[in-house]
Amino acid sequence: MTELQRPRPLDTRRHDRSRFACGDAVLDEYLRRYAGQSRRRHTAATWVIADTEDRVVGYASLAMSAIDRATAAPELTKGAPDPVAALLLGRLAVDREFTGLGVGTALVAHVLATVLELNVSAACRAVVVTAINDEARRWWERVGFRSFDAEDPDQLDLYLLTAEIEATLRALG
Ligand SMILES: CC(C)(COP(=O)(O)OP(=O)(O)OC[C@H]1O[C@@H](n2cnc3c(N)ncnc32)[C@H](O)[C@@H]1OP(=O)(O)O)[C@@H](O)C(=O)NCCC(=O)NCCS
Repeated sequence: MTELQRPRPLDTRRHDRSRFACGDAVLDEYLRRYAGQSRRRHTAATWVIADTEDRVVGYASLAMSAIDRATAAPELTKGAPDPVAALLLGRLAVDREFTGLGVGTALVAHVLATVLELNVSAACRAVVVTAINDEARRWWERVGFRSFDAEDPDQLDLYLLTAEIEATLRALG
């Protein structure tokens, strides 16, 4: 199997993004054209897993965020102000050549560990994601994320409480 590096912040001078293809053109385009810009503008930090030649095989982006109390499940809002502090896992994608190898799970585990660190200095109630489709939602649910509205089968907004991260990381191995 190809040897892969540990997750690192995207370095646009070093990391090769030109061949990245996850099957979703918007997610490919984001990595190639906008991830560096987002970092410079402090709107999102992108973490990558690359192979030994610095070709990016997967990425995740993370930004501070907030949840509108009116849209959230009670366990997110109980005892919290409006809006509720959260971290947004804005994008996650793995190159098709590398899917099914645990790269996506490794990126999520890295982001969750980062959230635990950040939570010490600037608290957040939960990590939130918007799944791009039903299939992606099932993938997130497998990792432990839950729907903002369990009654709505089309709901793609998902969350994981910060309080659950340690147990989730143990389950992910
Ligand atoms: C979703 C994605 C990030 C997963 O990355 P990955 O590196 O293939 O994921 P992993 O290898 O860590 O996980 C694979 C596991 O998930 C399971 N899985 C794959 N698709 C699944 C789905 N739709 N629902 C539930 N489980 C799924 C596999 O069976 C495998 O399980 P196993 O480890 O028990 O064998 C990747 O397929 C991708 O980039 N897809 C296109 C973009 C996308 O959907 N991104 C999510 C954005 S919201």
